[in-house]
Amino acid sequence: MTRILHEFVLKELKKQYEIEVHSGKIPIPRKILSSKIENIDGLICFPYDVIDKELIDKAKNLKIISTYSVGFDHIDIEYTKKRKIRVGYTPEVLTDATADLAFSLILDVTRRVSEGDRLIRKGEWKKIFGAYDYVGTDLHGKTLGIFGLGRIGSALAKRAKSFDMKIIYHNRKPVSKTKEKKLGVEYVSFEKLIRESDIISIHVPHNKETNQLFNKTIFQKMKRTSFLVNTARGKIINENDLMNALRKKSIAGAGLDVFEAEPINKKHPIIKFQNITLAPHIGSSTKETREKMAQITLENLHLGIKGKRPLFSVGY
Ligand code: DGY
Repeated sequence: MTRILHEFVLKELKKQYEIEVHSGKIPIPRKILSSKIENIDGLICFPYDVIDKELIDKAKNLKIISTYSVGFDHIDIEYTKKRKIRVGYTPEVLTDATADLAFSLILDVTRRVSEGDRLIRKGEWKKIFGAYDYVGTDLHGKTLGIFGLGRIGSALAKRAKSFDMKIIYHNRKPVSKTKEKKLGVEYVSFEKLIRESDIISIHVPHNKETNQLFNKTIFQKMKRTSFLVNTARGKIINENDLMNALRKKSIAGAGLDVFEAEPINKKHPIIKFQNITLAPHIGSSTKETREKMAQITLENLHLGIKGKRPLFSVGY
């Protein structure tokens, strides 16, 4: 295990296996992981642990990689497939928690809640006594653009509907008409999503096609009054371009739970932006959800060690 997990997981693991838990620096330094991976049968890892070809090649006995996450962009899936190593992950259980976080970022950045919190703590409340100089943006009647109407995107649509928002979405392929009707969403091209949304929320995996997809070209096309929210993966956005767009007021603000490199450093220039709400990658971080993820991570590991398909499996 590259990081400590819940006590009940450790207890279960200890009953059946010889286990080693990394307790030092997080993420586990590559050198340490590389030296340990040689003889292990199963690996429990986290999104910050990059499990690439070079590392997988060192693993002689590895049967299963069980990642404590819905995302698996940190693992070379093509190569695990080739090597017939199972990969288990934890979708479904974190859908609602992540959609809640996305919606809370939307509310926070449009109503300037965290910004106000910072003002009060600095003793600057008096600065915003005017009737019009500290105003937010209404959500009702506005257009939410969901980029990626999968599990989490759909859960976000349900939340937005109850806030009387118009919801448009873009996917590689439209979902069924029945699902569109049930969610009250309309399929549009990527171009239209970018140009017409008042808020864009990203819910696609990070891969070759989505890497740095949100860059200056896109920000130039977005409405000047629009907001961008990301609870998926940081590398989908070019952070420098985002900061430039905010400096030039080409868009109005952003809510980010994920970053190009995590954790972000306290000297990172993004910290200075008042119109960005920052969250420390906590999309799935509720007590209930994290326990469910831990349970699935454990079961995926057990199954993989036995040579079986994990409950939620990708690749081989
Ligand atoms: C995931 O599960 O992939 C989330 O980003 C939390 O790490």
